Amino acid sequence: MPISVSSRWNGASNMTNTTSQATRGGDGLGALIGAKIFIVGAGSGVGRAIASMAAARGAKVALAGRSRDKLDATAATLSGAVLGTYALDVTDRAQVEAALAEHGPYDHIVTTAADLTFGPFTGLTDAQIEGMLASKFWGPINLGRAADKHLAPQGSLLFFSGLAAYRQGPGSSIVGVVNIALESLAAALAIELKPKRVNVISPGVVDAGSWSSMGEDERTAFFADVAGGLPVGRVGEVEDEAHAALAVMENGFINGTVVNVDGGGRVA
Ligand SMILES: NC(=O)c1ccc[n+]([C@@H]2O[C@H](COP(=O)([O-])OP(=O)(O)OC[C@H]3O[C@@H](n4cnc5c(N)ncnc54)[C@H](OP(=O)(O)O)[C@@H]3O)[C@@H](O)[C@H]2O)c1
Repeated sequence: MPISVSSRWNGASNMTNTTSQATRGGDGLGALIGAKIFIVGAGSGVGRAIASMAAARGAKVALAGRSRDKLDATAATLSGAVLGTYALDVTDRAQVEAALAEHGPYDHIVTTAADLTFGPFTGLTDAQIEGMLASKFWGPINLGRAADKHLAPQGSLLFFSGLAAYRQGPGSSIVGVVNIALESLAAALAIELKPKRVNVISPGVVDAGSWSSMGEDERTAFFADVAGGLPVGRVGEVEDEAHAALAVMENGFINGTVVNVDGGGRVA
């Protein structure tokens, strides 16, 4: 039976009372001033760039990831904007709940956490597969469950998937699987957690930590090869992704969807 439009909009009346002016139409200017944002993966790459860009727009950020050193290094660049740093594994539901409880409810919760292994499908070890499922499957599930309590009604939850969801190739089998799963999860949660918004950003190849296991020469050659095949003629920078993340947080009408920030990689 088709789902009726009216049943989909049950609960919309709550939104009238709880959604801030800043996220209702307009240009989003100032929407992040004073907003509290919890970022898992803030110790490096895109997560770190989101923390930095959000802080520059007046947000208060909480930084999470497994490595205390990396979080402290990020925090050192953001004086005054840091609510707290949380050395945690996003796989651990209790750790996630405890961290969010300290300064929650948050206006936005973001995860870029990824512990990925690229390599032939038949050669992947159980531990490597578990690491991928832990960071990009169980992590978002734990955050989705925590969002019920620790995310403000007008807030948003943002996951990061990736181009491998659509453009599978040798070595990215499980990476693609976890990425595409996130997109389905976000759609479901946008309905179940309403009026909280839930979205996904799907990056293309970005010069960031995901490629840190490559040697420098190999990485340079890889980026040049990818750039040559993209309409924009370059690989992404972490700021490209962070800018999109802020736009998704600022715009209260982006919901239940995937924003592809990939330089045209999906269509090239
Ligand atoms: N860079 C790209 O080209 C690209 C392409 C497509 C998609 N993406 C996606 O975009 C996101 C950001 O990519 P990136 O290159 O910025 O990645 P990154 O630099 O490797 O950052 C990932 C962060 O996640 C944290 N992390 C990993 N496992 C965790 C866990 N179990 N619990 C908590 N934190 C964990 C890592 O810190 P600790 O090790 O300290 O925990 C790290 O700071 C990822 O989801 C990635 O899959 C990136």
